[in-house]
Amino acid sequence: MPTTPQRPPKIAVLPGDGIGHEVLEQGLRVLAAVAPDVTYEHFDFGAERYLRDGTTLPDSALERFRTEFDCIYLGALGDPRVPSNVHAKDILLGSRFKLDLYINFRPVRLLDARYCPLKYKRPEDIDFVVFRENTEGLYTGIGGQFKRDTPDEIAIEQEINTRKGVERIIRAAFEWADTHGKTKMCMSDKANAMRHGHELWQRVYKLVAAEYPRIQASHLYVDVLTMRMVQAPEEFEVIVTNNLFGDIVTDLGAAIQGGIGLAASGNLHPGRVGLYEPVHGSAPDIAGKGIANPFAAILTAGMMLGQLGRPEDERRIGDAVGACLLAGHVTRELGGTLRTAEAGTAVLDALSAQA
Ligand code: NAD
Ligand code: IPM
Ligand code: MN
Repeated sequence: MPTTPQRPPKIAVLPGDGIGHEVLEQGLRVLAAVAPDVTYEHFDFGAERYLRDGTTLPDSALERFRTEFDCIYLGALGDPRVPSNVHAKDILLGSRFKLDLYINFRPVRLLDARYCPLKYKRPEDIDFVVFRENTEGLYTGIGGQFKRDTPDEIAIEQEINTRKGVERIIRAAFEWADTHGKTKMCMSDKANAMRHGHELWQRVYKLVAAEYPRIQASHLYVDVLTMRMVQAPEEFEVIVTNNLFGDIVTDLGAAIQGGIGLAASGNLHPGRVGLYEPVHGSAPDIAGKGIANPFAAILTAGMMLGQLGRPEDERRIGDAVGACLLAGHVTRELGGTLRTAEAGTAVLDALSAQA
């Protein structure tokens, strides 16, 4: 999965909307400290730009991301002034689809037990990765409305499951498990109710699993998966699932790892430019107050460096965030007193303190 560029890495920075700006600023401070050779270009795509001139994400920018950059570092998209969320769909889902970033890689790792809402769970109990399919499922927008605003109206949202799409995400999950010494895979669907698309997932899963006899391949319907994630998260090492279920279970994953302010993610296609973003959104309820937790964005920056072939930098950043959690140097939603910028400074201090 990682690509190692020959020249210094070049990152496209899209702060986006709301707290996206606030948390990315801290992520960039940490990147500057850990990887001073990295270069950046900022892009102003987001609600403000859309409201100003109607631009969401031009094809020319996508082409530049594809050809000139190693990574895209994104804050969050979503603004109450754009109720249709059209800009977010174009920029976020547009990047995922048009760059064909079919793997949404979302680790769920408890760094410090005190921030876990589950009783008696330790860091070693919550340490798994979700491989979320990222280019099809219920997210393609295929469907339509008929007789809108009448008592007879119909709204159809089609779920797309292609053999190619299902196979490549399942294969990516097994391949990652295999190369990272993992022995437990769980595929989650709802084949008991969704008999066509999810039956395809079941068939393909069995075929691919047979190629990895060392990995124990299990299956859970998604309703049971959510229950087990709460009751026995230690059962999981790698979870692979479709786009919508992956979205939902990774917010649950974020909650059990200590909160949405700690969850990092990467949108990936091996060998191509990846898009890295915290799992959380633009949080309009706290935007502009300087209180957002920047740790998810900082851990995302670490993931980005790891994927660029610098696992030691990723480890350092993870350890620094872990040290802040241990010391109680955290933002308010985690019971601390730090503001966003202070939490960024705490991570920088923890990095400096590393041997
Ligand atoms: P959200 O993740 O923005 O917020 C959910 C709750 O978590 C809010 O109470 C918020 O204050 C809190 N929260 C989120 N991030 C936090 C952080 N870093 N520190 C402290 N608290 C944090 O989800 P939402 O409210 O459903 O969505 C708001 C907007 O963001 C919507 O427009 C949504 O579509 C969009 N969104 C974008 C992305 C993305 O760009 N990747 C992801 C999720 C949601
Ligand atoms: C996420 C977000 C997005 C998604 C939204 C903003 C479309 O919730 O990245 O988790 O559902 O993929
Ligand atoms: Mn989500």
